[in-house]
Amino acid sequence: MKENEKAALITGIGGQDGSYLTELLLEKNYTVHGMVRRTSNLLRSRIEHLRRDEKIYGQRFFLHYGDLSDGTTLRRIFRNVRPTELYHLAGQSHVGLSFEIPESTCEEAGMATLRLLEIARDQPAPVRFYHASSSEIFGNATETPQTEKTPMLPTSPYGCAKAFATQLARVYRQSYGLFVCNGILYNHESPRRGENFVTRKIARGVARIARGLDVDLVLGNLESRRDWGRAQDYVRAMWLMLQHKAADDYIVATGETHSVREFVEAAFAIVDLPWEKYVKRDPSFDRPTEPANLVGCADKIRRVLEWKPTGTFPQLVREMVEAELAAIEIKSGQ
Ligand code: GDD
Repeated sequence: MKENEKAALITGIGGQDGSYLTELLLEKNYTVHGMVRRTSNLLRSRIEHLRRDEKIYGQRFFLHYGDLSDGTTLRRIFRNVRPTELYHLAGQSHVGLSFEIPESTCEEAGMATLRLLEIARDQPAPVRFYHASSSEIFGNATETPQTEKTPMLPTSPYGCAKAFATQLARVYRQSYGLFVCNGILYNHESPRRGENFVTRKIARGVARIARGLDVDLVLGNLESRRDWGRAQDYVRAMWLMLQHKAADDYIVATGETHSVREFVEAAFAIVDLPWEKYVKRDPSFDRPTEPANLVGCADKIRRVLEWKPTGTFPQLVREMVEAELAAIEIKSGQ
């Protein structure tokens, strides 16, 4: 199949990853279909620039109303779109929140994936299926760094749902020969990250304090460590997985960890302010349990798909803080 005959369907197209992936696939001449939930607010900020582009929207880029819980509509979208590739990114993805709304988190991250696997299995023509798995499946990991073979030991409802869906994807691959890949992604960040994830919260808070709009930044556990990469690199990994001759699972990670405190220090240093003066600690942001030591070994994807992360941790922090400062400037100029 020529690349320009490829049709991708993306669930979760309005999120950080969905928006970068859409840009990547449009560059590669795909027709891109996104599934969006009906909301009262029509503006979807991360893909608005594409929706307003008349050369693209309605030509090679389409949005469809749908909901992960509505199997009839999902099947109808499949019938109309006939995707050659499905990128399943949607669902409640905040780990802390999954302790407060465990049923809906598991419904979205677990059962909805099963629903989509069933639909993909019934398609007349083969569909290549990307499942957004997560490092959270490892939880209290038995080894460091983790590989594709590390046992799953999740420590949150979100991690449990992702473990369920990851294993189901493997079962569908083995039992029905479905081309389905689990991308076991570690944390990946960008200026488009949701505002309640820690990196964006810090970058935004630092910029607002620097411009006199806030007086403090209230955070949870500063000693947590994460393997933070760049979202733009991680969506490229998703695409690479579906281009390979065989379906498989891949860890996507930098192999390097930093603490929340290190992120805070680097972010305040960019605006030349002492972080200790502004950061307040609020235990209500702590989670009932935290994964032990999440750091990924990406050797397999580096070797098989020739993927590698770009940029460094300080560059990532700088990119995020500068984007927030620029956004404040644009707003104040309006
Ligand atoms: N969100 C948040 N807010 N986290 C905080 C805060 C705070 O105020 N203060 C400290 N943290 C700590 C959390 O306790 C956690 O240890 C760490 O910062 C990172 O939290 P998040 O940015 O919320 O990400 P996450 O690691 O829980 O989950 C993200 O990465 C996973 C792996 O890729 C999410 O994107 C998941 O959907 C994803 O699967």
